[in-house]
Amino acid sequence: MESRGALLCIFGATGDLAAKKILPALQQWSKDNIPFERIWCLGRRPLDGPGYHAFVEAKGNFRLNEGLKKAIDYHRLTFDDAAAYHSLAARIVAEGFDPAAKRLFFLAVKPEDVVPIIDQLQAAGLFATGNPEHRLLLEKPFGESLESAAAIQQRLLPLAAEEQMYRIDHYLGKEMIRNILTIRFANRIFTESWHGGAIETVEVISIETSGVEERLEYYDRAGAVNDMVQSHLLQMAALVAMDTPQTLEPESIRRAKIDVLKQMRLDSLHPPVIGQYAGYAAQVPGSTTETFVEATLRIDAPQWQGTRFVVRTGKKLGEKRTEIRLHFRPTRLCLNCSETLEAAPNQLVIEVFPQEGVQLRFNSKTPGYGYGVEPVTADYCHSCRMIGNKPEAYVKLLKDAWSGDKTLFAGFAELQAQWRIADEIQAAAREHGLVVYPPGVWDMREQGGAT
Ligand code: BG6
Repeated sequence: MESRGALLCIFGATGDLAAKKILPALQQWSKDNIPFERIWCLGRRPLDGPGYHAFVEAKGNFRLNEGLKKAIDYHRLTFDDAAAYHSLAARIVAEGFDPAAKRLFFLAVKPEDVVPIIDQLQAAGLFATGNPEHRLLLEKPFGESLESAAAIQQRLLPLAAEEQMYRIDHYLGKEMIRNILTIRFANRIFTESWHGGAIETVEVISIETSGVEERLEYYDRAGAVNDMVQSHLLQMAALVAMDTPQTLEPESIRRAKIDVLKQMRLDSLHPPVIGQYAGYAAQVPGSTTETFVEATLRIDAPQWQGTRFVVRTGKKLGEKRTEIRLHFRPTRLCLNCSETLEAAPNQLVIEVFPQEGVQLRFNSKTPGYGYGVEPVTADYCHSCRMIGNKPEAYVKLLKDAWSGDKTLFAGFAELQAQWRIADEIQAAAREHGLVVYPPGVWDMREQGGAT
């Protein structure tokens, strides 16, 4: 039989992430010809190919196209069942797939399942240690603390080379987060003022209206700090605060991010605030897991002296919004010098969701005969310029993993630096009470009731 090409295997294929993000991303990619000849979806449920198609369509609320349906098959597998890996390998061999061709393994599973799965894959001859064509896409969270992440990495390294690991942080695939470096480094007005002397506060915000929904088991172990701050929010903060990288090569950007993450620490004068939405504890009695966190960070680098970096995220709040908001220091204005006035501080907002764009607030003369000063906003809509399909984060990440571009994937040293900060936030937050807030509230920080 003539040998056949590339494979994608998705572990955790009956989970939320597969139905809501991974399969819809493949569907979008398939419109311009997906390179995988077979996509194996793997899970515990007793399904066959067509059964899985129907399952994932219902769960993800979308329709798979015919081409994708032909590529997607299902194999029932519990993660520790060696025989199931061998029967998967036999099906792959029977279909004539070349073991030397590209193989991507997407692990949308709990952190503790990662090592056993790779172990089994290797034992069944499906994954070859050191073969750069065999790649592992590892979903967050990678560990639950600095210590557990290091333990996973230590157990992983004999099985897979760092080069084979693609650690996913889907925020890095988002269009406006990929735009941060361009906005910063391609504009003189920003390169000149991107430092603590000009910027008072940087807010990194990702708030949501939805609750924990079907992910209670995972979420109750993680909480907002590990689920969102450790990964997405710290990556955004690092992109805002890092020094100019020496080149735009992935390693150079990663080095610059690691350097700045290593200099980040909690502001001792502003302890983190954590909260839990009312009703959460009814689902998990006695749980003290936070569904909201706000932490103030400082960066021990001369260029960031005096700037606060505030990270804020929460579930069941009044809106879904992701943005980075830079508050510049106020300017005192002396036009005719009979009086000075303080003009409204400039703000630069990098909007990630629901709008994708940039807003710049600056001061202008009030229209008319006088000389009043008022803040106005220049509003750039980035997404308005995209015709057809908007680039989706998971499509970008899958494409990059396919082509071996690691720019948007987190290396282990980066992850270690992020875990150190997350652990610090956790420890400090636990010293204070957990504030219970009503679902749908607009500003959780106005709530009084600490428990
Ligand atoms: C995920 C978190 O990584 O990001 C979820 O695990 C969160 O809890 C989600 O809801 C938010 O992603 P987005 O792309 O909707 O902002």
